[in-house]
Amino acid sequence: MSDWKNLILHGDCLDVIKKHIDILKGKVRLIYIDPPFFSGTDYTLKIRSDGDSQKAGNLQEEKTYSDKWEGGLQEYLDFMRVRLSAMKPLLKDNGSIWVHLDWHVSHYIKVILDEIFEYSNFVNEIIWKRTNSPKAQSKGFGSQHDVILLYAANASKFKTQQVYREFDEKSRRPYSYKDERGRFRLIEIEAQGIQRTEDRKQFEWRGRTAPYLYRKKILDEWWEAGLIYTSKNGRYTKKQYLSEVPGIPVSDLWIDISPVQGTSKENTGFLTQKPEALLERIIDSSTDSDDIIADFFAGSGTTAAVAEKMNRRWIICDSSEAAIRVIENRLGISRTSL
Ligand SMILES: C[S@@+](CC[C@H](N)C(=O)[O-])C[C@H]1O[C@@H](n2cnc3c(N)ncnc32)[C@H](O)[C@@H]1O
Repeated sequence: MSDWKNLILHGDCLDVIKKHIDILKGKVRLIYIDPPFFSGTDYTLKIRSDGDSQKAGNLQEEKTYSDKWEGGLQEYLDFMRVRLSAMKPLLKDNGSIWVHLDWHVSHYIKVILDEIFEYSNFVNEIIWKRTNSPKAQSKGFGSQHDVILLYAANASKFKTQQVYREFDEKSRRPYSYKDERGRFRLIEIEAQGIQRTEDRKQFEWRGRTAPYLYRKKILDEWWEAGLIYTSKNGRYTKKQYLSEVPGIPVSDLWIDISPVQGTSKENTGFLTQKPEALLERIIDSSTDSDDIIADFFAGSGTTAAVAEKMNRRWIICDSSEAAIRVIENRLGISRTSL
């Protein structure tokens, strides 16, 4: 694989996969795809020309791709099924596929993915809050989130790195205690609620008998390290210092990544462009340096832009000529002919 070359390819991903099966089979650590969502919309690229003090700049729009399906839902699902099936053999044993969709068809694609990748390899349904201001609706509620379905090639070989998000004001609030080592919060070391009613053995430790959750040896170590807090009524809890917590462990609810803002440097004008921070999280949690990452519905090339920054190898393709031009500009690399 030392002769690997990152590739931008123009064409239908099914043809691209068939053409490059020899270099890709069993080699790809991560496939991220953000295909059409069956939204019934034609998408464009917005190009703004610079204005001057006399005249405002112009906004031009160029069609990029259509997400309208003459044959309806069945045509869309057939289109996706054959392409998802073609992607499966590309994955390494410890690899994964992340399929980005929304409410329109994520439920149908989930069933197809269960068939192709097997239900036992289903890892997560991630909810990404993509906007703070959903459109007002006359019927129902405005949609505010996308869905990312994550499947492992082989669940027993797949691991994610725990990723953390930064503390915000609300999550810092429980750390309301302070001593010479800094801010801390209190964590229970005695069984609470339903755990307390279970047949848990109580024992005496430093003058208090309680259904402790930890062995005496561990409690003693914490005591020696100054990590046990004694309340006025003699109850013990453990101190957890804010400075020792790497952040808030990220769950399947991603509420901290903003969409691409109109004024942000990463904005290419491509209407369905996803934020680099989203791809950073996906790549960070599921790949290592030098791994090969593929995106077969590349759009503006976000996956490759982030993969490049994170020192991964990549292959991307798109069937839209306008998308490929955006990618070439963004990455400063030309396409390779199919
Ligand atoms: C939602 S956009 C991807 C946006 C991308 N994630 C980004 O951040 O810019 C979907 C892309 O899939 C492309 N596409 C649609 N059908 C395709 C096919 N059969 N093969 C390859 N690309 C296709 C479209 O041209 C479009 O650029």
